[in-house]
Amino acid sequence: MKPFSLSPNPDCLFLTPALKSVIAKVTYTIDERQGLTCILGDVGMGKTTLLRWIAEQYAERSDVISALMPNPRFISDFAFLKGVCQEFDIKTRRSQFEQENELKGFLVDSYQAGKNVVLFIDEAQSLNGKMLEQIRAMLNFETGREKLIQIVFSGQMELRDRLKDPSKKALSSRIFAPSVLTPMSLEDTKALIGYRCEYARVPNPFQDDAVTLIYNHSGGVPREVIKACSIAYTLMVNEGGSVVDVELCQAALAESVM
Ligand SMILES: Nc1ncnc2c1ncn2[C@@H]1O[C@H](COP(=O)(O)OP(=O)(O)OP(=O)(O)O)[C@@H](O)[C@H]1O
Ligand SMILES: [Mg+2]
Repeated sequence: MKPFSLSPNPDCLFLTPALKSVIAKVTYTIDERQGLTCILGDVGMGKTTLLRWIAEQYAERSDVISALMPNPRFISDFAFLKGVCQEFDIKTRRSQFEQENELKGFLVDSYQAGKNVVLFIDEAQSLNGKMLEQIRAMLNFETGREKLIQIVFSGQMELRDRLKDPSKKALSSRIFAPSVLTPMSLEDTKALIGYRCEYARVPNPFQDDAVTLIYNHSGGVPREVIKACSIAYTLMVNEGGSVVDVELCQAALAESVM
């Protein structure tokens, strides 16, 4: 197995202290039925991998009905609503009003059966104003204290700007404990590389100063770290070596520049 694959495989996720605290916030929002929370971050910060990691934990729980929408690109808010309903195997209806009622019926039944319904939406920055309004309507389904559906957004920073727009106040004021993914520290970067090698069952060939070089080059952005490591590791293998030192790393970084 390749230690530095770029796919957002949750099994390859190294849980930094910062990620653990994001997981704790998201878990709290869901388990306490607080409605909506979001994970924000720049490109390549690990949003998709983290969202999938959290979704996997919930998919295994018998007291939860969950679904993950990887990319909510729909032609209208009604199509989006139908898309959400399809994720939960809810009947499709002709009108938006009937569809909302169908969803509500499902949420009430699930609540009464002791099941928490959770919807994870990745690339949530693609949701347009009407779709965000649809989300707000879904969050209005509640008992006095608890929401009948919990929603976790994951998206790029532009989502925050969109939500900050005064017209979205009704929704943004409902977001519970939002999280922003920040770049990793040098220590995290070193631990991530070690974890990836361990997971792939290969010895970790990266020398400390090579890791520092990668860290400085990547700015602590996980995708950039993985890319640099992947090139350096491949170079090492091609050269028949067993160590990634600064020199090899410099050659790898030179190759990674477009
Ligand atoms: N904590 C981590 N441990 C291990 N690998 C990570 C970690 N965070 C991110 N990665 C890796 O970095 C790469 C980018 O992650 P991911 O695709 O989840 O980022 P993203 O924030 O969703 O990016 P985009 O904004 O392009 O959607 C993936 O290969 C992922 O496995
Ligand atoms: Mg992503």
